[in-house]
Amino acid sequence: MYRSHNCGELRINQAGNEVTLAGWVQRVRNLGAMTFVDLRDRYGITQLVADDTASAEIKNAVNHLGREFVIQIVGVVRERASKNSKIPTGDVEVELKKVKVLNQSVVPPFTIAEDTDGGDEIRMKYRYLDLRRENVRKNLELRARMAHYVRNYLNDQDFIETETPVLIKSTPEGARDFVVPSRMNPGEFYALPQSPQTFKQLLMVAGFDRYYQIVKCFRDEDLRADRQPEFTQIDCEMSFVEQDDVLGMFEGLTRYLFKELKGFDPGEFPRMPYEEAMEKYGSDKPDIRFGMEIHDLTETVKGNGFKVFDDAEYIGGICASGAASYSRKQLDALTDFVKRPQVGAKGLVYVKYNEDGSFKSSVDKFYSADDLKKWADAFGAVPGDLLLVLSGNKVATQTAAGILRLEMGKQLGLVKSDDFRPLWVVDFPLLEWDEEVQRYFAMHHPFTSPKLDEVDLLDTDPGKVHANAYDLVINGVEIGGGSVRIFNSELQAKMFKTLGFTKEEAEKQFGFLMDAFKYGAPPHAGIAFGFDRLVSLFAGLDSIRDVIAFPKNNAGRDVMIDSPSTIADAQLEELTLKVVPQKEKK
Ligand code: AMO
Repeated sequence: MYRSHNCGELRINQAGNEVTLAGWVQRVRNLGAMTFVDLRDRYGITQLVADDTASAEIKNAVNHLGREFVIQIVGVVRERASKNSKIPTGDVEVELKKVKVLNQSVVPPFTIAEDTDGGDEIRMKYRYLDLRRENVRKNLELRARMAHYVRNYLNDQDFIETETPVLIKSTPEGARDFVVPSRMNPGEFYALPQSPQTFKQLLMVAGFDRYYQIVKCFRDEDLRADRQPEFTQIDCEMSFVEQDDVLGMFEGLTRYLFKELKGFDPGEFPRMPYEEAMEKYGSDKPDIRFGMEIHDLTETVKGNGFKVFDDAEYIGGICASGAASYSRKQLDALTDFVKRPQVGAKGLVYVKYNEDGSFKSSVDKFYSADDLKKWADAFGAVPGDLLLVLSGNKVATQTAAGILRLEMGKQLGLVKSDDFRPLWVVDFPLLEWDEEVQRYFAMHHPFTSPKLDEVDLLDTDPGKVHANAYDLVINGVEIGGGSVRIFNSELQAKMFKTLGFTKEEAEKQFGFLMDAFKYGAPPHAGIAFGFDRLVSLFAGLDSIRDVIAFPKNNAGRDVMIDSPSTIADAQLEELTLKVVPQKEKK
């Protein structure tokens, strides 16, 4: 037996008992007459003590311990003279009777503590040491608990957990595929799934009725704080359901997770059409923890000779409550903020609605106080408020105003980190026009059903067609997305045609699905949650990296195992990726 108790377990009522513990040496404090050792494992920290009554052997052993040594000890629990109320074991210590070094450790490259001295890169290189830190491990414990509750809920609802293959053929989720060469089929490649989309639909054709899987997905796309090249989805599909059924089921799952893991009731989830989200929040993933909605001023402000506005397709802005006191410097900083390429505005017009009811704006040359009062009224502004106005192309300007809104929300302290405001964004456009390649792309994916009363528009004005697609958004993060599916092979073929596939291309890539639809496909719909994003939201973290045990860095590299890496010529040759001339072979 390595241990009788773990390092987080001992309490005052165990005083007098002999115990055996095992763990890592967090630190050793030699105070002359006494030496204290903090022993750490996953469960906590227990203080060990060798005082002046300890044997010479114990004293010697303790004085030779180093950080992160793995030891096993035997000792007697006793009450501490000076208690530590910050840790659950803080009332007791263990008086050492035996110390055995199970393994030594070289000096770790950073301190294994909550506020470590290790930078990002070094912690990633030694991720196994980083994972010893309680705050990092806690995030992964939360992840495991969440997976457990997800399974509880979905199993109770009769979902069948089913694994789908990882070596597949391309699924069009809009990113690039990672591909794997096939040795047995020279010159041919598998693709890693961007999602199990087609398989889960085939499981519906197979009559599984309710499927789920907590599954790795792979997308070769540019990385951000909320994106990893391999990430995990809670992937689900249901048969004989309409959009409302899916939203109800997964609102239930989300509510259950909030209740079990955070003791929080997020209330009813509002449903907001995509167009309203864009108009009011300049985003298809609005953060509705605060108001400050965008107002359209296009009709209000034109015709005063201010060319920037007169020429603009759209003019709109936000009202920042109580920010009329912003200084010149702060306003300049906001102007710089909106001009950054990520925001993309050309400039920023401000109007201060001063406490005394007067106005001061950056466009005083063109607009009288009466004009500006009209703007203020359009916003519902009161004295003391600051209006920030942008103009230009409609969607780009709304988007920029949305980003400015988030920034002002932050600056004015309106974004509460312990508040969670989920909503469903619904009625997405079915298609997106890509200027560069001059064709439509599916906004969600090509299996998403158009709204059936708009199908005829596919022939005349495809851009106007809406989809039965929905996203779950919480605090400005797209947590999940899904749709009602096309289950009719003719409509699916029409969709492929709209997306510019020839009949042959569609047949080659998705013939299997269209064939399956000919054998009695049930109406079906589904959704996938970004599991990493949901965990990081619950953990209050900005990056999903912190909830992944072994994440990749921003260049898509695992710096610990040094991957990706080159492979040997022999391996390349075997995979027919390279022909190695005979004379170069050993
Ligand atoms: P979608 O592409 O919207 O839908 O993905 C579902 C959810 O997965 C998360 N996600 C990611 N998380 C981390 N890193 C990434 N690179 C990444 N990409 C996506 C997001 C997103 O909302 N097959 C459909 C689902 C369906 O229709 O049922 C799909 O994959 O949180």
